[in-house]
Amino acid sequence: FFFFLGGWGVGGGGGVLGAGGKVAAVMPEAAGFQGVTDRATLQEFSHAHSDSFWAAMANHRLTWTSAYDTVQDCDLRRGKVKWFVGGKLNVSVNCLDRHVLTCPDRVALIWERDEPGAEVKVTYRELLEMTCRLGNLLRRRGVKKGDCVTIYISDALAERIRDANSSTVITVNQGVRGGKMIDLKKTVDAAVDTCPNVRQVFVAMRTETPVVMKDRDVAMEEEMAHEEAVCEPAAMDSEDVLFMLYTSGSTGKPKGLVHTQAGYLLYASLTHKYVFDYHDGDVFGCVADIGWITGHSYCVYGPLANGATTVLFESTPIYPDPGRYWETVQRLQINQFYGAPTAIRLLLKYGDQWVHKYDRSSLKTLGSVGEPINTEAWEWYHKVVGDGRCPIVDTWWQTETGGICIAPRPSDPDAEIVPGMAMRPFFGIKPVLVDNEGEELTSKSASGALCIAQPWPGMARTIHNNHQRFIETYCQPFPGYFFTGDGASRTEEGYYQITGRLDDVINVSGHRIGTAEIEDNHCSAVAESAVIGYTHDIKGQGVYAFVVLKKEADITEPELRQQLKDSVSKSIAKYASPDYIQIAQRLPKTRSGKIMRRVLRNVVERDLEGLGDLSTLDDPTAVQEIIQAPLKGSLYCHFLDL
Ligand code: WTA
Repeated sequence: FFFFLGGWGVGGGGGVLGAGGKVAAVMPEAAGFQGVTDRATLQEFSHAHSDSFWAAMANHRLTWTSAYDTVQDCDLRRGKVKWFVGGKLNVSVNCLDRHVLTCPDRVALIWERDEPGAEVKVTYRELLEMTCRLGNLLRRRGVKKGDCVTIYISDALAERIRDANSSTVITVNQGVRGGKMIDLKKTVDAAVDTCPNVRQVFVAMRTETPVVMKDRDVAMEEEMAHEEAVCEPAAMDSEDVLFMLYTSGSTGKPKGLVHTQAGYLLYASLTHKYVFDYHDGDVFGCVADIGWITGHSYCVYGPLANGATTVLFESTPIYPDPGRYWETVQRLQINQFYGAPTAIRLLLKYGDQWVHKYDRSSLKTLGSVGEPINTEAWEWYHKVVGDGRCPIVDTWWQTETGGICIAPRPSDPDAEIVPGMAMRPFFGIKPVLVDNEGEELTSKSASGALCIAQPWPGMARTIHNNHQRFIETYCQPFPGYFFTGDGASRTEEGYYQITGRLDDVINVSGHRIGTAEIEDNHCSAVAESAVIGYTHDIKGQGVYAFVVLKKEADITEPELRQQLKDSVSKSIAKYASPDYIQIAQRLPKTRSGKIMRRVLRNVVERDLEGLGDLSTLDDPTAVQEIIQAPLKGSLYCHFLDL
């Protein structure tokens, strides 16, 4: 791995280190740090002198309209997080204008269209022009600083538009994926009909299929063509909202997590550069959905802030065939490839020939995100896809963290990478493990709830409209720490391995879904339901639903399945609909009425010894009934919705 950050220390086992200049050669931002000679001392510096560390990063990496006066004003106990207070900047100046000054004709985006071989390359100059036209159009149509614009690319739209109080929605006539057309405009129309605050819908044309345009609809490309290609950037406060993204929690409605301007951008830019070892001229290919936090941080903000060439992948891993990723790598000469374990597991099943068919010699780093990557998938990714040459970075992070927090790289040049482990905290990130009593586990090797002990610029600031929920979810469980909701273990060497979520959240193919969200989708015959995740060899987890029917219910099992599937697909997404539905007489509950999903998980995974203490159950015979009922073999599988 010598080419990879090949300057964190001198080679040959490290130990003797050169002057601080070695570190600065790899990370110029670190040039002035006293006593920093290698990765370990830089990591220590980032914790002990957090303000100096982050100030140097912000001064080097961001272009400011006016300087900030305070690096951080944070108090995790009270849920207060503010960075670079008093500073002003503009994110699109940082992502576009400043690169147009130095390299206007460099390709900024490669839109890898669903149709293979039909990619569209957009230079920094062109992207800035497009952005200005859209900015001018939004301004002319009355969108002001501080207004929330909804960009529609995901499901469950209406509730989100209302929660965000958006008055403008941007969408396309149809989406295209895996050769199929999806009528997005129709969904928007239905959603917007229930959102009285929406004044206008911008409609871009992805396909040639015409759509009915209503009074509130604006033909986006046509209108943009009439706008000036120059637009004065607004000076935004560091802590103004940049975007919000909805994500699932264990209870209640999805939360609109809020990220702000400067800190988020800095963190996305820094992690993009150093975790993937991105260099000028590289083609960065993150194939994640753009509507996911991964798409935000590593298709858009991080790469563009770094003047990178970034790929927007519109298709699926198996369209038109299971060679799609690698054919794309060959055609676009991708240097860093960043994807999800669920897709890797799927492709692994199709066999090595789909990989071998294409030249992957451009690849330098392979990344993984969204869920734990099992050893078999890791080995395949490493040996078959990367020909054993490319470091694999298993990156752990969350919508809440804004960017990658734990990943094998950067590290000293000869440092090992252990399969299936996120391993090393990024600079400024101080993970701690805490036991059930809230005590920090200080021994080297330990396992517990994963918290982060110091604030960092990329973290979410609040939950839109519900700061109290933000405090309760992230700050109160372990006062003074940010609680991630994940469990983790730490090895003797200090490496972290994520063990999975501690709350009632299921992770299907990298999509976070709260059990409560699926359980909300009752059809009229269902009295109550409990949903759990079970181990699925491709999706990571699949959805298993237990339902209790109403006494008077008159419905056949196939009808019930169809109804539940339709209802979940409609209100959340197809990937959330259950693989298995099992009818039960009653559900195991605590005396306070909380459904014991842990017990159901044990039953489904056939871990009857792990059932443990059932004494808190209101009526332990409910479990016996479920154990004795045959588990559903009748899988009605909606095939993977990747
Ligand atoms: C899980 C995705 C193990 C974890 C960026 C986390 C992972 C949740 C990994 C966040 C990984 C993400 N190893 N688990 N490398 N990456 N997770 O908000 O449970 O969609 O809390 O953000 O995914 O999911 P989210």
